[in-house]
Amino acid sequence: MRYRLDGMEIEVFDGVYPPSEDTFLLMDSLKAYSASAALELCTGSGAVSVSLARRVRSIVATDVNPAAARNARHNLNANGCGTKAEVIVGDLFSPIAEGSKFDLIFMNPPYLPDDGTGCGDLAWEGGPDGRRVIDRFIKDVKRFLAPGGKVIFLQSTINGVSESIEALETQGMVAKVVGTSSFQFEGLIVIEASMGQHQKE
Ligand SMILES: C[S@@+](CC[C@H](N)C(=O)[O-])C[C@H]1O[C@@H](n2cnc3c(N)ncnc32)[C@H](O)[C@@H]1O
Repeated sequence: MRYRLDGMEIEVFDGVYPPSEDTFLLMDSLKAYSASAALELCTGSGAVSVSLARRVRSIVATDVNPAAARNARHNLNANGCGTKAEVIVGDLFSPIAEGSKFDLIFMNPPYLPDDGTGCGDLAWEGGPDGRRVIDRFIKDVKRFLAPGGKVIFLQSTINGVSESIEALETQGMVAKVVGTSSFQFEGLIVIEASMGQHQKE
């Protein structure tokens, strides 16, 4: 499948999450940000990294699905961003060297509650309450955040927005909602977080 999005040519390989409403909301929210060193977890087709690449000096994109990592590498190269991008296969932060710091870390994780069959798809299934990846991300993200850096991630209202904000606060971060989009049964939410002492507001 091929998509033409906002001046980008995005191809989606078999078995890789296609750009969807959540992808578009995250892309849209990220228009307000630029970075020196950016990190995207759960990159899928790499569409969000491609959309941001013009406003960053370097970008690392990771996904646990090797087909997604190949796909993201393909799309970054095809859109002229290959030289500033590194794509790595791995589970969340595990492929990122300890001590690495990024001033923008962003993610559209699998966030839908599973159906209890254990047959869910890694691309969208986030455990019984949809928080399996989100909670692990919140616990580890500040280790990789440069001073003054921002964390941006997407989730659904069905995952508990206040739960995420409180978990970020427990990690010493300040957090707020910076993007929303409503559907019939849920809303999609984009949360921004940063270390409190660097907050400018
Ligand atoms: C909802 S899709 C988002 C894809 C893309 N970022 C987008 O917005 O279109 C979630 C992605 O997370 C990846 N993923 C799932 N669990 C992961 C994990 N533990 N570590 C890294 N990536 C993971 C999936 O393979 C999938 O590509």
